[in-house]
Amino acid sequence: MSVVEATPAILAKAFDVQSVRNDFPILHQEVNGQPLVYLDNAATTQKPNAVIDAISDYYRNINSNVHRGAHSLSDRATEAFEGARETVAEFVNSPEKAQIIWTRGTTEAINLVAHSWGRSNIGAGDKILVSTLEHHSNIVPWQMLAEEKGASVVPIPISSAGDIDLVAFDVLLDASVKMVSVGHVSNALGTINPIEYIVASAKKVGAKVFVDGAQAVAHFPVDVQSLGCDFYGFSGHKLFGPTGIGVLWGKEELLDAMPPYHGGGEMIESCSFAGTSYNTLPYKFEAGTPDIAGAIGLAAAINYLNQFDRGAIAQHEHDLLVYCHLLAEKCKGLKRVGEAKNIAGVFSFLLDGAHPSDVGMLLDQQGVAVRTGHHCAQPLMEALHIPGTVRASFSIYNTSEDVDRLFSALEKVKSFLV
Ligand code: ALA
Repeated sequence: MSVVEATPAILAKAFDVQSVRNDFPILHQEVNGQPLVYLDNAATTQKPNAVIDAISDYYRNINSNVHRGAHSLSDRATEAFEGARETVAEFVNSPEKAQIIWTRGTTEAINLVAHSWGRSNIGAGDKILVSTLEHHSNIVPWQMLAEEKGASVVPIPISSAGDIDLVAFDVLLDASVKMVSVGHVSNALGTINPIEYIVASAKKVGAKVFVDGAQAVAHFPVDVQSLGCDFYGFSGHKLFGPTGIGVLWGKEELLDAMPPYHGGGEMIESCSFAGTSYNTLPYKFEAGTPDIAGAIGLAAAINYLNQFDRGAIAQHEHDLLVYCHLLAEKCKGLKRVGEAKNIAGVFSFLLDGAHPSDVGMLLDQQGVAVRTGHHCAQPLMEALHIPGTVRASFSIYNTSEDVDRLFSALEKVKSFLV
């Protein structure tokens, strides 16, 4: 039996994916007359019943504003909301739950640090290093800060395989570098970056490290203490939770010293026209009524994920990628984009003679959902000299049959386009 034939059997034993699929109602439908194959998980993951039910239960039974303490429903909402913060703190191994700041997502987490930490700590001539792999959300907020302060954003080069060039990175590091901001996993290529190495090098010149964990947290466990980074951000919706909720984790001494990002209710200790003093962590950064249902939904997503062996999930997704790569080798005219040593969740590729958006449209007609284009990583595409890619991205509920459907659909696409 060839390795390719053997792979699906291995997958079936390693992880009970069929039972996981039953938890996700959206997967059981037809799109364009074909059973849906959802391979756009890097854009957003689907939601299990546990998350849908938690949000619905919140609105049906305890909807109320938090921290007002005026009545029983408010107490119950506050308890669920702060319990969700505790769940997130444990999920990333934060020393304190006050280090978990709710944001709207990873993008807002980065903007918060760029505005608050950045405005107090970046000056003229300073450098902010970001990798060439980055999503626009980990470039533009730093460019806005640099423009305001007379600092510069310097890209760390990558290899043609899609790995950060660590030699070039070390050469770029000097005392003018105040921040290194990198993705844990590239959204466009799936490269898993060596965060521990990056942190250790950055520390030697006294630079802080922000890690964009948007594409990491659903694929493998993250421990902010063992990573050693200063800030870590991620989004709920790429982790089986709802949109509109995300997390900034930061080292306590840094968060404590940072000025508030937004002003309003909840973030003050006292307010008068003579002057206002600010609340303690985490509330200092949480002006206004928060996304209570979102936080509760995100905690439900984490609890859902925690019932599985995370190692088995990572193995399952790895096996899917290996299977995908084996089929890719047999698919004439297909060229992989991104062949880094360590990849999570993403299979990016091009088909000779076909524009990625045409490929995506024809896949969609066959019920296969992928993302095409530059994936909000235009500098990366520029560095690779390509306009974009077709990206299939995997999650816990994908199967070897999904990979088979992708490749049989690609054969049809080739018969139309190539
Ligand atoms: N950042 C998301 C993606 O890569 C939206 O698709």
